[in-house]
Amino acid sequence: MEAEQKHAMAVGQLAIGGWFSRALAVTARLGIADILDGGHLPHTEIAERTGSDPDVLLRLLRALVFVGAAERDADGAFGITEPFQQLRTDHPLSLRHTVMLFAETYDDAFGALLHTVRTGKSGFQKVFGTSLFEHFETDAEAARVFDLAMVELARPVAVSLLRARDFSGVGTIVDVGGGGGAMLRGMLRALPDVKGVSTDRRSVCERAAAELAKSPDSGLAGRLAFEPADFFQEVPAGGDLYLLKNVLHDWAFESGKRILGTVARAMTSTAAQHGTDAPVPRLLVIEPPITQDFDAARELFQMVACEEGMHGLTEEGMRGLLDAAGFDVRSVLPLPTGHNVYEATVRTTSEAPL
Ligand SMILES: C[S@@+](CC[C@H](N)C(=O)[O-])C[C@H]1O[C@@H](n2cnc3c(N)ncnc32)[C@H](O)[C@@H]1O
Repeated sequence: MEAEQKHAMAVGQLAIGGWFSRALAVTARLGIADILDGGHLPHTEIAERTGSDPDVLLRLLRALVFVGAAERDADGAFGITEPFQQLRTDHPLSLRHTVMLFAETYDDAFGALLHTVRTGKSGFQKVFGTSLFEHFETDAEAARVFDLAMVELARPVAVSLLRARDFSGVGTIVDVGGGGGAMLRGMLRALPDVKGVSTDRRSVCERAAAELAKSPDSGLAGRLAFEPADFFQEVPAGGDLYLLKNVLHDWAFESGKRILGTVARAMTSTAAQHGTDAPVPRLLVIEPPITQDFDAARELFQMVACEEGMHGLTEEGMRGLLDAAGFDVRSVLPLPTGHNVYEATVRTTSEAPL
């Protein structure tokens, strides 16, 4: 009986897991970790400063204590625990917007998981009536949170990539689907002679360029450009190195092939401009491979929210996609962030299936 009760607790806790993820999102949204700034405050003061109902906020904070995200001191004042300091906006590894994206927009889409499981069709489409990136064109707040979440997720990858690979000889990096430019910002800061072009949807580039213009990071101003482009049509030529980070996982096989085909065309035209003596442009595809059961949750997300027909790619699957798009994979480098870096060049033989 005791074992059954424990099982029931475990089942029940998992069943209300979504309540806790929403509680975390509300905490991030209200900026509670920023207000507390590593200290403790009574719940009434946190309520006043966040414009919240004190009684409800008290329950929210106690629920956070239960999951180890908050703590209560001897006077009953609440603080955020050390592991959850990443909810702060100013934390170097902040996940504040990532929490909002995952536990708000993505969680909303998971409301249609049953639809996806039954039909194989997009849950996102069912809930929002549109696709992920079309949704961001009409919901400015969701788009802002998405861009900032991508910045948060890209920062540690830029650091890992710089540690793992030598970039000498590289003059210009083009980041395709580069979002807010976090990868390039991180890389260019460490590579003072390198220029970067981040290409993405027009609205994303406009927000990112405006952000760069008002940032104190003036060292990047002349070296980092945002060029809007639809990566199904054309991407800027002129890069010695192209990046595609966390882009291909949004798209089913044929769309992935089309994006890679566009990049291959830009790389081929760059190689022609540079002449035969120059090293050929290289592509780094940076994606976490599907390796274990835990990744199935990510695959479920892709099936709910990404292009219909997308499921996760194993290393073998990514190699197959690159091969089908006319690339030769030169190396695969695992990063501590869980990403693989697939380094590839455009196949030059006449049978390249572009
Ligand atoms: C998952 S995000 C990855 C962003 C960035 N590479 C990173 O890892 O932080 C995918 C990016 O692809 C961009 N994107 C989607 N459709 C696009 C299109 N048709 N043309 C150009 N960029 C597109 C999105 O705006 C978004 O910034």
